[in-house]
Amino acid sequence: MSKTSIIIYITIALLFLLLVTQTPNKPSNHRNRRIKIRSKFDFDPRHHNHHHEPVPFDPVVADIERKREDKEWEKQYFEHSHPEFVHDSAAAGHESQPEWEDFIDAEDYVNDEEKFNVTNRLLVLFPKIDVEPDDGYVSVHELTEWNLKQSEKEVMHRTKREMDVHDKNHDGLVSFAEYDPPSWVRNSDKNSFGYDMGWWKEEHFNASDADGDGFLNITEFNDFQHPADSKNPKLLQWLCKEEVRERDSDKDGKVNFQEFFHGLFDLVRNYDEEGHNSSHLSDNLMEAPAKKLFNELDKDGDGFLSDIELLPIIGKLHPSERYYAKQQADYILSQADSDKDGRLSLTEMIENPYVFYSAIFSDEDDDYDIHDEFR
Ligand SMILES: *[C@@H]1O[C@H](CO)[C@@H](O)[C@H](O)[C@H]1NC(C)=O
Ligand SMILES: *[C@@H]1O[C@H](CO)[C@@H](O)[C@H](O)[C@H]1NC(C)=O
Ligand SMILES: *[C@@H]1O[C@H](CO)[C@@H](O)[C@H](O)[C@H]1NC(C)=O
Ligand SMILES: *[C@@H]1O[C@H](CO)[C@@H](O)[C@H](O)[C@H]1NC(C)=O
Repeated sequence: MSKTSIIIYITIALLFLLLVTQTPNKPSNHRNRRIKIRSKFDFDPRHHNHHHEPVPFDPVVADIERKREDKEWEKQYFEHSHPEFVHDSAAAGHESQPEWEDFIDAEDYVNDEEKFNVTNRLLVLFPKIDVEPDDGYVSVHELTEWNLKQSEKEVMHRTKREMDVHDKNHDGLVSFAEYDPPSWVRNSDKNSFGYDMGWWKEEHFNASDADGDGFLNITEFNDFQHPADSKNPKLLQWLCKEEVRERDSDKDGKVNFQEFFHGLFDLVRNYDEEGHNSSHLSDNLMEAPAKKLFNELDKDGDGFLSDIELLPIIGKLHPSERYYAKQQADYILSQADSDKDGRLSLTEMIENPYVFYSAIFSDEDDDYDIHDEFR
């Protein structure tokens, strides 16, 4: 190659580079909202009362998110279990690059109207949601059931992934000896936050073991990870015990009225108002209803709440997936039910596609961050 051709070549390359960097990298803005693909880990129970990621409405989007989350998870798992590779090799960092490209491609894919036609997707999904009965309208109940089905699929997917890690002898069962609690449990000492927490400890494990055979099968392991969604009475009682332990600031083993009023009562109230309208009433105004509820719960009238006495409200302290599914359905209806008849027609859905496809509760986007189990 001659010197001139090299110079021409370099010039062209530089011009090209300039052109690329000058081109706005956002695709044309003919839509005001983009469908987001996210990955969501949050196994840390300390966040459970405050934050719940919306579940994707469309199984296709859910599938993309799951694949992406799996990759992200594998990467973190690898970095955690082999920190020596990460520290002394830049290659580990490089390997992660294509994963982000996959993600961007997936997001471009679902935002490309010719490839992923939202109208057509809603046409396909509508009859799958409108089933109880199939009357041409989607009710809150139908939408709740749909959301719940999607979230249960997602939860089970994560549980299987976790199970693969903990089930070291691959017999489909996890024993307590096989189970490695998350590092924040292993590393917690007496002074660190979380030391007193019973999550991921043997008592929690035993309570999840419904048939008491010393092993958790996939159902029991799923309950272990998500006690609030369990029907196992032993586990629900464990959850109440855990709640007492957490709220019991004077460490007398029971919850007195002050401990109830400053903490638990707000959670009950938020639940009853469905989280939409948390009006900030003063303590003075709230004390009477709090006292009333406290006395109702305090069955033996000893002035304290025990674990058993918390059982009637445990579902409000730790809302289940069904609660969030309903909340999401209510939100969608409030946004898309144009004629306010309390149900959605196909036309209403097609006219408001981004209610279904955008990150719901998008004000939470900004403080969205990744929590993982391996810290
Ligand atoms: C999406 O599908 C609808 C209904 O089939 C059609 O009318 C519309 O033109 C499609 N949009 C694009 C961008 O292909
Ligand atoms: C859990 O159950 C096993 C028997 O299956 C028992 O040996 C162990 O002490 C129990 N642990 C706790 C913390 O209850
Ligand atoms: C796991 O064990 C429980 C009993 O503790 C049983 O009800 C459930 O069906 C089992 N799940 C599977 C997938 O075998
Ligand atoms: C909250 O509820 C109260 C009464 O239940 C109502 O007066 C108030 O307007 C609501 N606030 C919001 C922000 O919806």
